Amino acid sequence: MVKICCLGAGYVGGPTMAVIALKCPDVEVVVVDISSNRINAWNSETLPIYEPGLDDVVKQCRGRNLFFSTDIEKHIAEADIIFVSVNTPTKTRGLGAGKAADLTYWESAARMIADVAKSDKVVVEKSTVPVKTAEAIEKILTHNSKGINFQILSNPEFLAEGTAIKDLFNPDRVLIGGRETPEGKAAVQKLKEVYAHWVPEDRILTTNLWSAELSKLAANAFLAQRISSVNAISALCEATGANVSEVAYAVGTDSRIGPKFLNASVGFGGSCFQKDILNLVYICECNGLPEVANYWKQVIKINDYQKSRFVNRVVSSMFNTVANKKIAVLGFAFKKDTGDTRETPAIDVCKGLLGDKAKISIYDPQVTEDQIQRDLAMNKFDWDHPLHLQPMSPTAVKQVTVTWDAYEATKDAHGVCILTEWDEFKNLDYAKIYDGMQKPAFIFDGRNIVDTEKLREIGFIVYSIGKPL
Ligand code: NAD
Ligand code: UGA
Repeated sequence: MVKICCLGAGYVGGPTMAVIALKCPDVEVVVVDISSNRINAWNSETLPIYEPGLDDVVKQCRGRNLFFSTDIEKHIAEADIIFVSVNTPTKTRGLGAGKAADLTYWESAARMIADVAKSDKVVVEKSTVPVKTAEAIEKILTHNSKGINFQILSNPEFLAEGTAIKDLFNPDRVLIGGRETPEGKAAVQKLKEVYAHWVPEDRILTTNLWSAELSKLAANAFLAQRISSVNAISALCEATGANVSEVAYAVGTDSRIGPKFLNASVGFGGSCFQKDILNLVYICECNGLPEVANYWKQVIKINDYQKSRFVNRVVSSMFNTVANKKIAVLGFAFKKDTGDTRETPAIDVCKGLLGDKAKISIYDPQVTEDQIQRDLAMNKFDWDHPLHLQPMSPTAVKQVTVTWDAYEATKDAHGVCILTEWDEFKNLDYAKIYDGMQKPAFIFDGRNIVDTEKLREIGFIVYSIGKPL
């Protein structure tokens, strides 16, 4: 029986390994983590992350060929294939601070593997890492090696949160990069056989190590670039009377462009787009390519601009001040169908409104009050340094309340900001919400999900992204 160990039981390690275990009953999969809280949650009825379909998959194979453990050393020693799926946040200090990837967690994982391995291992980079990381990891692993053969593979993950299980069941492609030596090719084949249990062979792409590492950063940069492009056009739509949905549709029907990822929004969030682009920018700078670095930097700048444009729109339309006005925020997660708030645009929007002394009442179906308070108290880039590794004392932000009901959040509010596209926000009883609000009642739809005409008929003043007023 092939044994797999995965270091890091997070948004990637957990779902990815659960699907491998489900699809490969002849493989034993153990997911380990330094956080005992996380491992306990994976072993409980309430999994540490919310992801549609995940509970089902875990229930089917946990205890059969899927295990969660804190005994990292034991499971590294026993494994044939070791996935490393630890976090790779943006560095907060030192060389490259604010851009470069912080590989501390990765390096300590590699050192642990080097220390405890007693037999040959295939080590798989699952985390998103800077191109050429495998070279550094090889040095750590082979230094001190006791005649053990380590083969490093790059196997970046392309799942999106909220659709992780669907994406893992039916991936557009699986990418495996390895050394072009006989040992490297054998390692690639070994990993290929795992995925071949359910992924058609023509969707398993193999490349050299550096192409695989760079393709992950490039794919995220391309995706984010589409959003910044449509968001940039949304600003021009607002200035000219064009409608961004109509423009995006017209542009996206060109088969060379395609319709996906052209939804204008308050800005993209999530743990990876910004982090990975900053990382790409840093790598370009280090390689003496400032023009390329500046090109990609602009994707982040437009995203920041879009978030601040949204805040400015709220404040300026509410007679240039939101001081002491209650603003209801519907949705705090960075997208629907996840409880993840990492780099969610809601943080910047709330901070912007708080800066203008608004009182904020937040409702999100999947995000707890603790999480929201922590996010609003945290510094930029601190969020991806796990709490158990870097304790932080959250100070409650007093002007913020968190409710478990959209109607409660909007009661007596002067304005409503929709910041996540949760389906339930499309079907709220907006007439009831209007009755409970201060007048004039404003709605700022940061996701273009409400029926603008209908809300205007009710009496709301409605602002959408990139739409005529
Ligand atoms: P996460 O923070 O949810 O999980 C990482 C886990 O690794 C944490 O639980 C942490 O405790 C653990 N960890 C840290 N050091 C460890 C060590 N030495 N040994 C064992 N465990 C350790 O992060 P994530 O969202 O799962 O992302 C992981 C990687 O995958 C990142 O590089 C990210 O860029 C990439 N990625 C993420 C997504 C996504 O949708 N979240 C998608 C594709 C790729
Ligand atoms: C993204 C990529 O889609 C995945 O392929 C990748 O594996 C992952 O990053 C990663 O490396 O972490 P994710 O961030 O989970 O996945 O979610 P997306 O669906 O890409 O959404 C990211 C952000 O963009 C969200 O805030 C979303 O609301 C926003 N978005 C997305 C838009 O504003 N408009 C769109 O048209 C699409």
